[in-house]
Amino acid sequence: MATKKPTAERVMEGIQDIIFDGEENKQKAEKIVQGIQEIKPKAEKVVKGIQENKQKAEKVVQGIQDKITSDSEDKPRALKVRQGIQEIMTGSREMMFNVDFDESKFELVKVNVKIKKLDPVFDGYTIVNITDIHLGQWLSPKIFEGVVDYINALNPDMITLTGDYVSYILDKYEKPLEHGFKRLEAKDVKLAVLGNHDHWLGEKKIREILKNSDIIDVSNDVYTLKRNSENGEKILNIAGVDSYMLGKDNLNQVMERLPKEGPAIILVHEPDFASKSSKTNRFALQISGHSHGGQFIIPGTGTTIFRGSYSTKYPVGKYKVGNMLQYTSKGLGTNVFWMRINCKPEITLFTLKSEH
Ligand SMILES: [Fe+2]
Repeated sequence: MATKKPTAERVMEGIQDIIFDGEENKQKAEKIVQGIQEIKPKAEKVVKGIQENKQKAEKVVQGIQDKITSDSEDKPRALKVRQGIQEIMTGSREMMFNVDFDESKFELVKVNVKIKKLDPVFDGYTIVNITDIHLGQWLSPKIFEGVVDYINALNPDMITLTGDYVSYILDKYEKPLEHGFKRLEAKDVKLAVLGNHDHWLGEKKIREILKNSDIIDVSNDVYTLKRNSENGEKILNIAGVDSYMLGKDNLNQVMERLPKEGPAIILVHEPDFASKSSKTNRFALQISGHSHGGQFIIPGTGTTIFRGSYSTKYPVGKYKVGNMLQYTSKGLGTNVFWMRINCKPEITLFTLKSEH
């Protein structure tokens, strides 16, 4: 009895029969098949090597993050040290780089979001989101002013801010932060939630700056936008929760305050809150920051291996979580290491689409 040939071989023979006509072409095809077979084991070795090295690299990165960069859940005990590092880094940056705003160094990410039950009166509605300004740490007040001008030129309907406005120093940056915030222009409204750093540095002061800048704080609250249409008044809800990392989130309160009608969007500093918010089945979109996109995007992948706490699941870009779209911005600033590799600071422009 003849031995049965391997499936792949029989398939290739079939392809040869169909495509190649004549002995000469058949021989060429056989050579190609042989070449593929020879390359395959080598390719498998390369893939295995990459996987092994990736695991090692991830362990090293985790170790570095645990020891140096990651934010602990409590107020950092080494605040003074971090303040010192911030000042040294800022000083050296200002010596090394031109500190004027340069549009080409930023990325405008356009995200179209189809929203269930969104009334056509909101079709094409634009929201500009910025997050993780970390003013004074890499992003200077002067550059921030340029960012504000850039956003205003986009003429957005709404501006949302998803926390971490400062890093480890507040006093020096209160005025420039408020100055920039005041100058932000949205046709309808400016909304914000707080991040972990805002709590560490002074929640009260940050909320005061937001208030003085005509920005509505939606931490554990809801803002309802109203528009008149031919069929009466239509609404769109923008909710927010306070810092999830610091346990300041109160989703129950948000759900109590959220109107039963009208679609809803939620602002949360930490992206991994999406696992909770999506379970309510009430939000079409969650907008977050916190991760800085890991400050390093692996070329060709759009993702990162640098995943800090509360951004391990959804570190950068778009994710479908249940019926909700999670969007994590790469943010504007940096942590104490003010390097960004293949990961430009981001301004996000959302355009809402109704189903009609
Ligand atoms: Fe954060």
